[in-house]
Amino acid sequence: MRNLIIFGGPGSGKGTQSAKLIDRYGLHHISTGDVLRDHIKRQTPHGKTANEYISQGHLIPDDLMLEILAETLDNLPKDVKGVIFDGFPRTIPQAQALDGLLKERGMDIESVLGLEVPDDELTERLIQRGKDSGRSDDNPETIRERLKVYHNTTSPLQEFYQKAGKYRGIHGVGTIDEIFDRLVEALNSNPS
Ligand code: AP5
Ligand code: MG
Repeated sequence: MRNLIIFGGPGSGKGTQSAKLIDRYGLHHISTGDVLRDHIKRQTPHGKTANEYISQGHLIPDDLMLEILAETLDNLPKDVKGVIFDGFPRTIPQAQALDGLLKERGMDIESVLGLEVPDDELTERLIQRGKDSGRSDDNPETIRERLKVYHNTTSPLQEFYQKAGKYRGIHGVGTIDEIFDRLVEALNSNPS
């Protein structure tokens, strides 16, 4: 199985590029943001808790996130060729737990594709999307908080995966197709 992580700040293009990677490689998409928004839409107990964190731009607690992820992994279709993890892991404990969860299922992570985009570009994309996305976190105040959380809590994962020899940094500014070409090239090359 080919399991990838697409990594980067809020608005870095994780969802956009995941869709293209899925088309190219036939992978199964797990976006924890989408899974949580689905819980919110269905008004499940997990959704009610998640909504409070998401609308403030904060991460939902690791134990809850891991419970939801394990459930998602257990419900994967039997014939998947691989998974692209989008928005997960976001903390060191999540990354450590992911290794364990995958190992139990005879899986591992092949590569971490890091979309590297400056904060001002991220902010501009999210403000633009916020005009019609309906997402409770696409407003200037929450975007600032999401960026803060990304830099303080999530970006240390870059070093975590560099040490594991799995991180591939990709310049994430340009057209969607240019960035996709860089991703494909990175997948075919050695770790940076
Ligand atoms: P999540 O849903 O993962 O959101 P995010 O990381 O903030 O990122 P986005 O989905 O907003 O952006 P993206 O990188 O997917 O970019 P996209 O392709 O959409 O998480 C939301 C919240 O859920 C978190 O804050 C947290 O509360 C909670 N959560 C989720 N996972 C969690 C976890 N593991 N642990 C704890 N809590 C968790 O693109 C963005 C915009 O830019 C779009 O409008 C797009 O059209 C545009 N765009 C894309 N590429 C380009 C380009 N090359 N040039 C110009 N515009 C572009
Ligand atoms: Mg996304």
